[in-house]
Amino acid sequence: MNLKLPVVVAPSILASDFGHLADEALRAVDAGADRLHLDVMDGHFVRNLTMGPAAVAAINRATDVYLDVHLMIYSPFDYIERFVEAGADSITIHFEATENISETLDYIRKCNVKAGLAFCPETSVEFIPKYLHQCDLILLMTVDPGFGGQQFISEVLDKIEFTRHLCNTLHLEGLDIQVDGGINQETAALAYEAGANVFVAGTYLFSDNQMAEKIARMKSLAGKRSRD
Ligand code: DX5
Ligand code: ZN
Repeated sequence: MNLKLPVVVAPSILASDFGHLADEALRAVDAGADRLHLDVMDGHFVRNLTMGPAAVAAINRATDVYLDVHLMIYSPFDYIERFVEAGADSITIHFEATENISETLDYIRKCNVKAGLAFCPETSVEFIPKYLHQCDLILLMTVDPGFGGQQFISEVLDKIEFTRHLCNTLHLEGLDIQVDGGINQETAALAYEAGANVFVAGTYLFSDNQMAEKIARMKSLAGKRSRD
């Protein structure tokens, strides 16, 4: 597999100190974050509640960095405009959360925002091909969505390989494959080897004061794929 895409690191704000959201966003940017990953949960699609458009807008005011909004909510179509207005650069919806996948992906792109589609670990790869042409990013969840600090599910590695292979076959080499959940140096290396190029990490990056070193090490994965 010959991956020409750069390694992109997106710290997940979910693991930051919510009492200092703007400062935490700046800390991640200063440490070399390419994007900030913002987890939006509705208490229904997943059993947790996090942030809404107001928090996204506050982070957008604090920094110019690319904001990667991950919607873990039902009926995402109804909320796209509000997250666009809040400053999202990409919006990822869940395959499992709506019947209107194509319509919602199209609408996100119509708003001049990158469109992403996320798949839970249990969801079969057979549903991925249909939507690839409508996506700028495919998010292959490496934990069950809802909470930070969980263990990486290694069975997803096959799904990453399948998706990257499919992208190459369909000449969609520029499509981002993102992994999210349980990402650290070791699991990032495994996911990179399988074909992922965008790494979301919360607990691993925010847990100490080594964020810059950790991001630099993750980025050094680029060019290290053994099968290149
Ligand atoms: C989980 C969220 C993740 C979460 C990852 O549903 O989508 O973005 O913040 O957290 P860690 O890196 O701690 O597994
Ligand atoms: Zn996420």
